[in-house]
Amino acid sequence: MSTDYPDFGLDAAQRRDAVFTHRYEYPGMDGARGELWCYSDALAYAPGSLVRLMISSSVERAELEIARDGAELRVVLQQSLAGLRWQPTPEDCSVVGCGWESAFEFRIGEDWPSGAYRVSLVAAGNDGAPIRSHHLFIVKPRPGPKPRRVLQVAATGTWTAYNTWGGSNHYRGLTGPNRDQYSPTVSIERPWCRGFVVLPADAPRVPLECSPPPGAPLRYPHMEWAYATGHSTKYASAGWASYDSHFMRWAERAGYAVDLVSQHELHYEPGLLHDYDCVVMVGHDEYWSWEMRDAIDAYVDRGGHVARFAGNFMWQTRLEEGGRRQVCYKYRARAEDPVYRERDNSRTTGSWEAPETGRPGAATFGLNAIDGLYAGWGGCAARGVRGFPVYRPGHWAFRGTDLSYGDLLGAEGHAFGYEVDGLPYVIRDGLPEALPTGGAPEGLSILALGMSSLIEEPRSQADIDDRFIGDEEATYVAGLRFGDASAASVDRVKRGCGMIVHFTRGAGEVFHAGSCEWVAALLRNDAMVARVTSNVLDRYLAGS
Ligand SMILES: [Fe+2]
Repeated sequence: MSTDYPDFGLDAAQRRDAVFTHRYEYPGMDGARGELWCYSDALAYAPGSLVRLMISSSVERAELEIARDGAELRVVLQQSLAGLRWQPTPEDCSVVGCGWESAFEFRIGEDWPSGAYRVSLVAAGNDGAPIRSHHLFIVKPRPGPKPRRVLQVAATGTWTAYNTWGGSNHYRGLTGPNRDQYSPTVSIERPWCRGFVVLPADAPRVPLECSPPPGAPLRYPHMEWAYATGHSTKYASAGWASYDSHFMRWAERAGYAVDLVSQHELHYEPGLLHDYDCVVMVGHDEYWSWEMRDAIDAYVDRGGHVARFAGNFMWQTRLEEGGRRQVCYKYRARAEDPVYRERDNSRTTGSWEAPETGRPGAATFGLNAIDGLYAGWGGCAARGVRGFPVYRPGHWAFRGTDLSYGDLLGAEGHAFGYEVDGLPYVIRDGLPEALPTGGAPEGLSILALGMSSLIEEPRSQADIDDRFIGDEEATYVAGLRFGDASAASVDRVKRGCGMIVHFTRGAGEVFHAGSCEWVAALLRNDAMVARVTSNVLDRYLAGS
């Protein structure tokens, strides 16, 4: 493997800017060249529903194309649009929504299959080059039993949390007295940032594809690429293009029938889960509401099967205004979330493992984000395993893989990383066992276990100011666990892991490969990861 970081033609100052300056999409950012921006009035629609596209445009005409983005891109609608106009946008649009008027409306065809639909707009820019923009909406399945069909739940809570459009998300923002804080409230009524819907094939993923030599400075190539190409700083952290799409495409090409919903359907229409034998989540899936978890728990208890190939089940959210706004105070929850001061403060929007919430992620999915975390990038296990070290190769999920004790699953496709989920554990007679403190269901089996880190420890004095990940997560978790963020407490929490687990609960069961990058291995045709994925889907679709 190369020891050189990839080079995107940036100088040292630009590389620093790429990581540490708050860049975001805003109306007018492209100046005289002109812009086209679009969002829709919902995340997901039933067949036959009316879709309203809110478009703000500096040019009067554009060509619209809508295509289902699955095993292949299938065009369902093409239309020339005229009479487009520039619409005023409030400064706090990320928080309250853009408030644009509808510019074009159409009905979802009764025959449009459930899935993700890409909206492409193209117009002639004032400099002669085309202006392009993209949006994405979901078409829900029709109600009714769906034998042999997978229901994929898109990680729309995480897309919303990371969306940089308008300046504020759950990471950085323009809120607070100095207009420099992340926003605990974000709106879905705004365009997706650049790179969430469509990406070129050579867009780097977050985990490093090089092994930095001793003394190499910390670098974050995906953010350098974003800077060099005009994509959102968060393109590789969330979105359909980086994550969810890779499962949909792989599964359809492998012959599976896949329907798609957003997380809003779990929250508002939980009954639709019961039409399916198998429900899947993939990628970076970090933000869930209490009600969404209730939906999954009820589904599993009644005999449903959940296959989760995803990482970072971390934060509780609340939905407001009928789902148009997502609330998550995160690190500031105890200080600022008004729910924390209520008599029942279980809905405080912090970590699921916070005592006031007391609902460890592991109770639903078998793993917790705070027992896992970063692997394969920055200063976090950057030279670590790229796959899952296998401990229980005899499990049915590994049938046909030839994996043995100590083998790595998914190293070829780099399945292990960016953010992984784990549990507190002990190793007895060479086999990991979950400790009860993690909150996992009894009888849970740890099939694979790798190492991760909650902290980005500097390799040199120079690194201290150049860390993007730093120690924010470790100090937060130390505060949750021990009530203080002292060096001793941080030291007790900083060593994380990443696992594959399986358990039964009620009449159902859950298989969880806790890594954001599982889908990257599917994208890269990692045969063993594909085989394990098929083993799980086949068993669950057969209803056993
Ligand atoms: Fe995350």
